[in-house]
Amino acid sequence: MLQETLINATKAGAAILEQFFNQHDLKISNKESINDLVTEADHASEKVIIDVIRHAFPDHHILTEESGDLPTSSNYKWIIDPIDGTVNFANGIPICCVSIGLENDGQMIMGAVYNPLLKEFFFAEKGKGATLNGQPIHVSNKAEVASSCLVTGFPYTYLDAPNGPLACFERFIRRGIPVRRLGSAAIDLCWVAAGRFDGFYEHKLNAWDSAAGFLIVEEAGGKVTDFKGDYYSPYQPHLLATNGKIHDEMLQWINGEKS
Ligand code: IPD
Ligand code: CA
Ligand code: CA
Repeated sequence: MLQETLINATKAGAAILEQFFNQHDLKISNKESINDLVTEADHASEKVIIDVIRHAFPDHHILTEESGDLPTSSNYKWIIDPIDGTVNFANGIPICCVSIGLENDGQMIMGAVYNPLLKEFFFAEKGKGATLNGQPIHVSNKAEVASSCLVTGFPYTYLDAPNGPLACFERFIRRGIPVRRLGSAAIDLCWVAAGRFDGFYEHKLNAWDSAAGFLIVEEAGGKVTDFKGDYYSPYQPHLLATNGKIHDEMLQWINGEKS
């Protein structure tokens, strides 16, 4: 029932993305900064997702990007990004998705990320592996950063900190290491899980960006930590997800101990 509801909710949200994608009169507004966007599709997707979950589990705790925290006394918590990659979505770039993670007693137990424009549905259940469109997926085998293909993201407001996003980016680029920037953290994570990228790092994420994707990486055999190398919590901003083999070396690059 939990899995069925997760899949139904993800698909319901994704149907909204398909409906609004490339609509020339899409209503767009901005949040804290000029390019931190929210569209009518974000709100509509979030509404149908919440409806599906509430219908099945009226007492479960829900945390969403646009409606905020809707706590209850339940040990189950659904963490929802109704569109991850909103800037892409608003520009007709088909790299965006619905992302939903399900936590029980503080532990992520299931996650789904669906990009309906590329028809890619990623799913993981704790201890049961990760899949793309029903087929098992696994992280890459790359063993060194120098030959890796990486991906990152940048926050909407400039983060002026030692070893910040630009300092790390520059370190990799100076050595000719490819670092892509797709614009959807949930998809970045799933593409690490599928072995397309060897590593993904970002300095400022929210729980809804990573809740589903980090479990999908772990279940695909990868490793996810904060920038100290400690156990990853989606309630703090730093995320490093890799195939496991380049993880320790990536920590050194990010923390300025290697360049
Ligand atoms: C954003 C995307 C982007 C990441 C930002 C997120 P949104 O989420 O995941 O890739 O760099 O940090 O905020 O706003 O499209 O849901
Ligand atoms: Ca997001
Ligand atoms: Ca979003």
